[in-house]
Amino acid sequence: MASRYEEWYGGEGRRADILEKGLLGKLLHLFPNARSVLEVGCGTGHFTRWMAERGLDAVGLDISERMLSEAHRLGGPRYLPGDAHSLPFADRSHDVTALITTLEFLPDPARALAEAVRVARQGVLLGVLNRWSLLALRYRLSGKAMWRSARFFGPWELAKMVREAAGQRTRTVLWRTTLWPIPGMRDLPLPWGGFIGMAVQLNEESKA
Ligand SMILES: C[S@@+](CC[C@H](N)C(=O)[O-])C[C@H]1O[C@@H](n2cnc3c(N)ncnc32)[C@H](O)[C@@H]1O
Repeated sequence: MASRYEEWYGGEGRRADILEKGLLGKLLHLFPNARSVLEVGCGTGHFTRWMAERGLDAVGLDISERMLSEAHRLGGPRYLPGDAHSLPFADRSHDVTALITTLEFLPDPARALAEAVRVARQGVLLGVLNRWSLLALRYRLSGKAMWRSARFFGPWELAKMVREAAGQRTRTVLWRTTLWPIPGMRDLPLPWGGFIGMAVQLNEESKA
């Protein structure tokens, strides 16, 4: 899968890629002072490279050696092996932590969110497939092993989990969805687009 993963973004997944980056790019503007980003579950580094191209000091972390070796082959930022549930970084060591289409595949997403908050100074950026979308239904019905094991989230459920993970550090939680079945519809504060983009701004001073 690792070697075919990147190809998807250039073919069938091209529209998704454009829309997802459009939404995530807008959400990244909520962290105007961010210099560094850690992408947890970076896979082939598709979004890590994109964030590096935007001028961020980007690091990708993934548990899969195969995904990481593909990321290395494709070049770009720094990558390292690691587990989202126990990040090998000090508290507040990166300005932003990002998890893009990764939370769905983790055994303990609440713990991974707590870890993402712990290592982030300014905030957390999430990209998650929307449970309440036609796209999620289509993926579930596809019967593909990858999607059978995935856990989809809705925007409110995700926002609640994030607030619980961030506790007193939560400043704002902002989300939009994109990837609508109707072409031309962009990111909206409605809960049915296929992809949820969420930015969590954190209080930098307060304790977790
Ligand atoms: C669907 S891929 C998303 C990759 C990338 N973020 C993207 O959107 O192109 C999910 C990634 O999460 C990684 N992953 C799964 N469990 C993990 C864990 N416990 N810690 C870190 N990464 C994990 C997988 O190896 C895979 O590369």
